[in-house]
Amino acid sequence: MLRKEDPFNDFSPLFYLQEYYGEIGEENRFILSFLDETYQSWQPATLWDIGGGPTIYQLISASRVCERIRIFEYLEPNRNAVQAWLNREPGRFDWKSYFEFLGDLEGVSPEVLESRLRTKIQSVEAIDLFNKPSIPATSDFRRELPDGISTHFCVESITSDPELFDLAWDNLMELVPTGGGYLIMSLLKNATSYSAGPYSFPAFPVSEDEIKSRLKKKGFHSIEMQSVPAEHGRDYQGIICVRAIRE
Ligand SMILES: C[S@@+](CC[C@H](N)C(=O)[O-])C[C@H]1O[C@@H](n2cnc3c(N)ncnc32)[C@H](O)[C@@H]1O
Repeated sequence: MLRKEDPFNDFSPLFYLQEYYGEIGEENRFILSFLDETYQSWQPATLWDIGGGPTIYQLISASRVCERIRIFEYLEPNRNAVQAWLNREPGRFDWKSYFEFLGDLEGVSPEVLESRLRTKIQSVEAIDLFNKPSIPATSDFRRELPDGISTHFCVESITSDPELFDLAWDNLMELVPTGGGYLIMSLLKNATSYSAGPYSFPAFPVSEDEIKSRLKKKGFHSIEMQSVPAEHGRDYQGIICVRAIRE
């Protein structure tokens, strides 16, 4: 298990956001609807988002029920992109169509959703799933363990090496508390790579059956999955959304 040069040295938040979130599209509407449905049924008070990238779409519905959200992301430019959105900096990515879509589903204005999410995000911090995450406790509220883990296109989208995938998978699953912790996750289906602008990034191919069996081995129950085929021209077969509860 040798980590070669980090492919994420080439990751550009701008290229990535333009490629996957520039248009709201079929895939994004599917994920947003899944998340809207999930957070109607589940109310984790404290949520940690792992490998959040430069995106915040995955937390809009969560902010309806969560009191505290901590974002963990590997790359500093991605953390900066999220901070730029939090601080309303000029040139930040425009998530308006995402707030409008979810505002329609919830029956509240997009502006209310935006400020609700900003008030719930407590921090944007670093993480590396290839190292056992040690989450620093810097104040009392941060010592609190999460009730749920949100993680979208992270664990299968950072390596194509089976051993490194297993390592990242184990480290991710360990973050989900036993005794009823929630896992809310999206994955690329059967991808070996994906592109953003001129750059390509490694992926580990997973199917619904494989994810289900891996989750069962880690003690998850109430596993619910929904999938959608990929939009035209993508280098993956589809998108899998999963929610599950850890015993
Ligand atoms: C495909 S992006 C997903 C971003 C976002 N969650 C989304 O839904 O679009 C994969 C993310 O994994 C992060 N990543 C790369 N290496 C990582 C590592 N070793 N540990 C944790 N995350 C990593 C990248 O920085 C990137 O933000």
